[in-house]
Amino acid sequence: MKNHFLNIADFTPHQLTTFLDRAQHWTDALNNNAPGAGDLLKDKVILTLFFENSTRTRTSFEIAAHRFGARVVNWDVKSSSMSKDESFLDTIQTLGAMKPDAVIIRSSEYNAPYFVSTKLDCPVINAGDSHRAHPTQALLDALTIRQNKGHIEGLNIAICGDVAHSRVAGSNFQMLSKLGANIRIIAPEFLMPEKMPAPNIQTFTDMDKGLQDCDVIMMLRIQKERMDTSQIPDDATYFKDYGLTRSRLALAKDNVVVMHPGPMNRGVEIAEDIPDDPKVSLILKQVENGVPARMAVLEWALSYQTQRAAA
Ligand code: NCD
Repeated sequence: MKNHFLNIADFTPHQLTTFLDRAQHWTDALNNNAPGAGDLLKDKVILTLFFENSTRTRTSFEIAAHRFGARVVNWDVKSSSMSKDESFLDTIQTLGAMKPDAVIIRSSEYNAPYFVSTKLDCPVINAGDSHRAHPTQALLDALTIRQNKGHIEGLNIAICGDVAHSRVAGSNFQMLSKLGANIRIIAPEFLMPEKMPAPNIQTFTDMDKGLQDCDVIMMLRIQKERMDTSQIPDDATYFKDYGLTRSRLALAKDNVVVMHPGPMNRGVEIAEDIPDDPKVSLILKQVENGVPARMAVLEWALSYQTQRAAA
């Protein structure tokens, strides 16, 4: 059985906590300028397959791999034979025949990482599955919260905005509910998920009510490329009703923190200045944590020594 990293739901709370502990270990190592494992994945070749654009996820996977001495091959959909009508399956089987040691995949096709894991003979890591799952983002988000608050259990965490089309939200619901947080969704009716993704989630269509008593606020952009845009109000109207402003922030707890997986649309879901305020914003910390969180996933997926530690 290969160590595929496909969904948060595949792991127990204990395993997830072990991933967080390993991610914290790599955070500390990077902060001390002593990664201490420059050759853990030496001679491994990791293939990234991004069928969708990415700034943070692909780069941080790549840097994480380099921190372990692995080599990364970035396959590019635009210059591939898929532009000559080669099928997805033929492309995957072709790339698999070159025997990469691991594959990291992002696709807008529902369940593509799982499908690929059934076709390849190496660990497959989900770097974004349609509107459904983005498990390494949930890992780095949980790491960021735990570093700031010391724990996750019992925190009031609001996920706000376009929850219906967000794979980040999908994986965070699983992660944060497994780790014992009190989760709220704040969204207009048309951006609420059709089915509640985890038990005991509170929902609010009124942002001012939903923010009360929150420890953590996670904002999401409207994912226009994943929806019929006819229902979306103009930016100013959306900001008036669901934008995170200073006055709304004041409704939450005094030590509330603000998160956003990026890419952000300032002035639409979040006021221009909030992301840059180091007293409340953890947004760049999330990006920074992308590297150690993905190091924890790569070592689990690829390194024999640490498989036992995370088992
Ligand atoms: C997100 C993604 O691509 O799923 N960004 C990320 O990976 N940090 C969120 C988005 O697209 O809005």
